[in-house]
Amino acid sequence: MNSDSSLKKAALCLVLLCAAQLVTSVDQNNFKKCDQSSFCRRCRTMQPGSAPFALVEDSFQISTHDVKAILLNKENNVQFTLVLTSLRDNTLRLFINELSPMRPRFQVPFVLNELELNNNIKFHSKNPANISMTIGDEHAVTFTYDPFVLNVFQDEKVVISVNSKGLMKFEHLRTKTDQEEDGAWEESFHSHHDSKPYGPTAVALDFSFPDVDHVYGVPEHADSFALRTTDGGEPYRLYNLDVFEYELDSPMSLYAAIPFVTAHNSRHSVGVFWLNAAETWVDVTRSRSSLTGDVMSKIVSFVSGAGGDSEAPRSSSNVRFMSESGVIDAYLTLGPSPYDVTRQYATLTGTAPLPPYFSLAYHQCRWNYNTQKDVQEVSTQFDTHDMPMDVMWLDIEYTDQKKYFTWDPTKFAHPNEMVNNLTSTGRKLVVIIDPHIKRDAGYFLHDDATNNGYYVKNKDGNDFEGWCWPGSSSYLDFMNPVVRDYLASRYSLDNFPGSSLDVHIWNDMNEPSVFNGPEVTMHKDCKHYGDVEHRELHNIYGFTNVMATFDGLLKRSNYQQRPFVLTRSGFAGSQRFGAIWTGDNMAEWSHLKISLPMCLSLAISGWSFCGADVGGFFKNPDAELFTRWYQTGAYLPFFRGHAHIDTRRREPWLYGAATTALVREALRARYALLPHWYTLFHEHEITGAPVIRPLWFEFPQDTNTFSMENQFLVGNSILVRPVTDEGATQVSVYFPGPQEVWFDRDTYEAFTQTGTVTIAVSISKIPTYQRGGSIVPVRERVRRASSLTLQDPFTLMVALNVNGTAKGSLYLDDGQSYEYRKGEHISLSLSFANSVLTSRFASKGRLPTESWLERVVILGVPHNSYSKARIQSKSLGTTFTEVSYNSGTKSLSVRKPKVNMGEEWTISIE
Ligand SMILES: *[C@@H]1O[C@H](CO)[C@@H](O)[C@H](O)[C@H]1NC(C)=O
Ligand SMILES: *[C@@H]1O[C@H](CO)[C@@H](O)[C@H](O)[C@H]1NC(C)=O
Ligand SMILES: *[C@@H]1O[C@H](CO)[C@@H](O)[C@H](O)[C@H]1NC(C)=O
Repeated sequence: MNSDSSLKKAALCLVLLCAAQLVTSVDQNNFKKCDQSSFCRRCRTMQPGSAPFALVEDSFQISTHDVKAILLNKENNVQFTLVLTSLRDNTLRLFINELSPMRPRFQVPFVLNELELNNNIKFHSKNPANISMTIGDEHAVTFTYDPFVLNVFQDEKVVISVNSKGLMKFEHLRTKTDQEEDGAWEESFHSHHDSKPYGPTAVALDFSFPDVDHVYGVPEHADSFALRTTDGGEPYRLYNLDVFEYELDSPMSLYAAIPFVTAHNSRHSVGVFWLNAAETWVDVTRSRSSLTGDVMSKIVSFVSGAGGDSEAPRSSSNVRFMSESGVIDAYLTLGPSPYDVTRQYATLTGTAPLPPYFSLAYHQCRWNYNTQKDVQEVSTQFDTHDMPMDVMWLDIEYTDQKKYFTWDPTKFAHPNEMVNNLTSTGRKLVVIIDPHIKRDAGYFLHDDATNNGYYVKNKDGNDFEGWCWPGSSSYLDFMNPVVRDYLASRYSLDNFPGSSLDVHIWNDMNEPSVFNGPEVTMHKDCKHYGDVEHRELHNIYGFTNVMATFDGLLKRSNYQQRPFVLTRSGFAGSQRFGAIWTGDNMAEWSHLKISLPMCLSLAISGWSFCGADVGGFFKNPDAELFTRWYQTGAYLPFFRGHAHIDTRRREPWLYGAATTALVREALRARYALLPHWYTLFHEHEITGAPVIRPLWFEFPQDTNTFSMENQFLVGNSILVRPVTDEGATQVSVYFPGPQEVWFDRDTYEAFTQTGTVTIAVSISKIPTYQRGGSIVPVRERVRRASSLTLQDPFTLMVALNVNGTAKGSLYLDDGQSYEYRKGEHISLSLSFANSVLTSRFASKGRLPTESWLERVVILGVPHNSYSKARIQSKSLGTTFTEVSYNSGTKSLSVRKPKVNMGEEWTISIE
């Protein structure tokens, strides 16, 4: 939902007794610039090469899985431990902490999967200046002692260089003295004071990627997909915030923070994951070469034993993470392919578990559907207009005075009946549950939290109070396992009257949003369970909120049902708990356009289940924008229409018959492709491969694709080029190649040239293409909700490549339970070669299904030399059916093969 708004402004004004004017775009003054954050200022004023750190030569201890050494700050003799660990799957962990800190420094919990060590480190050689090891067969690392530099080599080339810019910082814990820099021991921002009882604690480190021009990631920002350089401007900021009417093309922080960056060139991809949940800024720079040609050639000759590399130095990219506190805990994922990097990152932080089938369908939301009658009517209207829809949503107004887990007694007097009405039509309900709790004596949640000490405390140890939707509010402290269990238990059907197993959850405002707090969030000197300052863990507050919710939904069904949870805030690893949307966007073309790079950035950072509010949250879209947004949203993983309370009603039939028909087509296009989306989400769960992908994932050597963000791939085989410009009558589409064929999914026209082609686009046209060589399953029956389609027949779209072959897969299960993990699923491997289409089980799983094969369409058949299809399956034996050839589209259609999708079969075209 929501963020600021006139309501919130009014609330803020009440609190501050101000007479602020309602603004129409982000108020930059509400949010810090780097130089208003003292640690960012201290980090950023460092000169390259000034880091005073040196490794103590005789401190090195090398085991088969790690390398330990003492790192010394030469300016003050403070000692640090450095540990480099080799992890499974080409991943290195670099950990640096104070050797004997005055108090333990915070290390981020919950995010990592259990780490698996890799016993593949071997000492290589030692010199007066450095020490080297090999890691497995392909990698080597060299530590230079003074200044401390770590180079990671792959195939004799440096792929990541750590601290080669000499910008490492590690502020050790200390006692206060008289000469402290401004802001180090206390700091103010507007009227807010940060007491900073522990003084300066910043950590920073630079990572260089030689020969790399393109780096991606560190979402969430409303900015380009390929990161821009930040010298001369603001760094990208990672500090989860509720930004009212966020601006585009900006490194400002938004709601979620994933400190993971991917560097890519035409030879390899690598990643760096900076595990730190404190406020973090990220500088991106480009230099001729991070290492001078001289040093570079020495390193290369040293490791390869061969002569120096005489290539002219190329540019390299440098990424520097700067965090307010914590430790240095960095994970280097060494690729070398983009898919390797996403898999390695998923090995660290997890993949998204397969979501329930309905959650990939269309969701209808608004702030707010006002009454249970409103909900019923909107749902019915979808049927009247023959538009599929799976989920109705309720924003905050359904509650009794913003007390979560309650219902407004007059507007939603009969929630059970409302829910039953929805579920009887195959639909679901999602309701909002936010982490701020109304301070209202008599509200059970507030009473429980007060009596048991479940709230986050202010610096003085009292329950922190802030202003949010309910008015005066306090915030559950999810660092406490008891509080997580408590929230989880609130979702049980007994504790949440009016809910059912068909009611799923939306956690909003979980940055957390505090209307009257510094930067609209919580004070950094607030205290969490375990005597941890909010400063340390701010960016995982939303993560822990959703973690508890996910657990609650699992428990309420006794672990039988897959939860669906939507969150606005998140951190690395949040993909394990649900979907994210890009927050409070606007009904403007530029916001439609930016939804692609925003979701692509999240997708390659482990979090594929992303979408933007279709139609735009603020303001009123006109019919054209509204249409284009549905056409685009249909190809992003999370597909939900949503609108602000001050906007005009915009259910998809309210724009007149022509627009209604266009939106209907967009919705149907989504529903037809649901089996493919579901198969891709299943693939993601197993491999970590993103569900939507930049083109360079499939075409890693095609430099033309490296900055591309206006077209993307769904899986590896559907190319989507949304129309995101007002009045567009044509768009450019880039067809990557060589040797590829791309088939227009509407006309079956084949594109075989690599390069850019201008495509005409009427208002009903959104260019999407199926890649030659792929088989995509679709369901063509139109029904009101996806839950009603699970036994429906299939059509297989077989697009032939230049060799006349194709392959694909199809994954099926009950769409809602975990039985698939016990083998109750069908995983099919489909292939077409030598005019024979075969379906084979790709796993041991089995599941009876009524789904049968209704049609096969083969694209790219040059001429008709076929008269029939011979079908072989166990249950039907050998049968024959008709084929028909369309010489205009060069497609061949096999009519009703009728084989069951739950068995293996062969179809020969003869
Ligand atoms: C290691 O140090 C020696 C000098 O002791 C130098 O010749 C060599 O180039 C260095 N290697 C690397 C990789 O820095
Ligand atoms: C449920 O559906 C029935 C039949 O359409 C209708 O009369 C009733 O008002 C609905 N109840 C709610 C709470 O929406
Ligand atoms: C076509 O076949 C040739 C020879 O086997 C192979 O090298 C090429 O990669 C194939 N092309 C495609 C697109 O599969």
